[in-house]
Amino acid sequence: MFYARWIVTVLLATTLCAPGCGGGGQSGSSSEQFSQDLTFTQAPPGADATHGQAVFGIAADGIHSDTSKALFSGFSEEAGATITANGRTCFSCHRPEANFMINPLLPLDRNLPADDPLIAPDAVAADSAGNPDAAELLNDFGLILHRPHRFDGLPSTDPRFQAFGFRKVLTNLNLVFARGFASDLRGPTLPVTDIGALMAHTQPFNDAFDDIVSTQDLDDLAAFQLTLFTEPALRALAVGPSDPDYQRLAGDPYATVPVVTPQEQRGRDVFDRNCFPCHDMPNVFNNRSHRDPSLGAPIGQAFNIGVAEANRLGLDFRYYDPATGERRVVNLPLTDTAGQTVLVSLNQDPGLALTTGKLEDLGKFKVPQLRNVGRGKPYFHDCSAPDLPAVVAYFNSTDYNQSPDGRRYPIALSAENQADLLAFLLLL
Ligand code: HEC
Ligand code: HEC
Repeated sequence: MFYARWIVTVLLATTLCAPGCGGGGQSGSSSEQFSQDLTFTQAPPGADATHGQAVFGIAADGIHSDTSKALFSGFSEEAGATITANGRTCFSCHRPEANFMINPLLPLDRNLPADDPLIAPDAVAADSAGNPDAAELLNDFGLILHRPHRFDGLPSTDPRFQAFGFRKVLTNLNLVFARGFASDLRGPTLPVTDIGALMAHTQPFNDAFDDIVSTQDLDDLAAFQLTLFTEPALRALAVGPSDPDYQRLAGDPYATVPVVTPQEQRGRDVFDRNCFPCHDMPNVFNNRSHRDPSLGAPIGQAFNIGVAEANRLGLDFRYYDPATGERRVVNLPLTDTAGQTVLVSLNQDPGLALTTGKLEDLGKFKVPQLRNVGRGKPYFHDCSAPDLPAVVAYFNSTDYNQSPDGRRYPIALSAENQADLLAFLLLL
């Protein structure tokens, strides 16, 4: 319902492309639908970002929690029930002091009071669906259990209702540059993503109750999110060609990265050759390819680099049935390129396939932005790489190089390349 007002104007591909960015990120048969232009979503006129900050759960000081305008409760006609807030707000998982995420606060029980609504047992029940692994994975790795089809009104026996992923909390900084939302790109617009977050984390209900929030509140919330940047200089890129600094940022992918030493310069070159083909948004380093949101999710380009299949934390993807206490393998029906239905026994996070129903999207995820990446450990959607050296080692591994998109973008770095690359990544 919030769709139409949020359609982004798609311009023809611009020629603003520095050496190294040509053609990067094309993937799969549908690449011709994608545009590479650098225009970004703007908040609807009249939206109030200051009020949006309060709805997000952040106090006027910009740092602390203030729940007074942020707790979502009331009677939902859609759900036919009264919703009582569990104490969680957007702030609970997207904290200003922690890069608008929670990973810098891990392990949570050492850095948060026991009654914090993020880790209080009642609140964890909102997204865990009774899964016995959920509390520990949240505490130690910052992972949240997500069932993308939870609010679609499916019977609880439907494999699409049961299928889930354990996902890292993504920052809300630089969101204006996102080409689709959530690690599996299931969110086509910010308001659709935000209302999903609100329902998923604040209640154990599986019936949709999005009628308890007004369109104005959602617009205000999004307007606030679109003001959040890792560095103020990036605002010029978000504003577009009318900003005097836009051309500099759009034309030089590294304009705002403080590269100084010879090692950092070598690291930038290693990045440009090996990583920029996918992380090709100038100065932000997510993927710039996108298509019209009216086509539905995904509006950005997803890749399968083998992380889900490798499942290095050994996560258990069997559905836990709270009624019986048993775990069962989920057999998810997906459509292959010939139009045949294939039942896939899930022993990994299905990624984008859970949204599109396509077999070719199994294990595909979005390319995350890399600003402030030093603050985001552990890494990948499943938090399976403990630190940046482990990420770089992953991109040199067989798991990466034998994955569908790793084969298209092979990576083999010497020890010196790796050390240089790490020096560069720490500047972001
Ligand atoms: C219990 C923790 C939790 C709470 C509370 C929470 N989020 Fe999130 N948020 C997450 C996780 C985990 C993800 C990543 C989901 C995924 O990848 O599937 C995420 C992703 C997002 C994204 C996508 C970012 C991107 O780059 O694609 C947005 C936007 C977002 N959240 C907004 C909100 C808003 C608005 C609220 C409050 C209504 C909120 N979140 C509350 C955990 C939380
Ligand atoms: C084929 C496209 C592709 C290439 C090439 C690529 N990446 Fe990525 N990168 C991705 C995708 C997709 C993800 C998300 C994977 C996931 O979470 O399952 C990712 C995730 C990451 C993350 C995790 C970020 C976080 O917040 O958790 C880092 C760091 C990263 N890449 C750095 C690099 C570096 C450094 C290189 C070059 C050595 C590189 N990438 C090359 C596609 C790519």
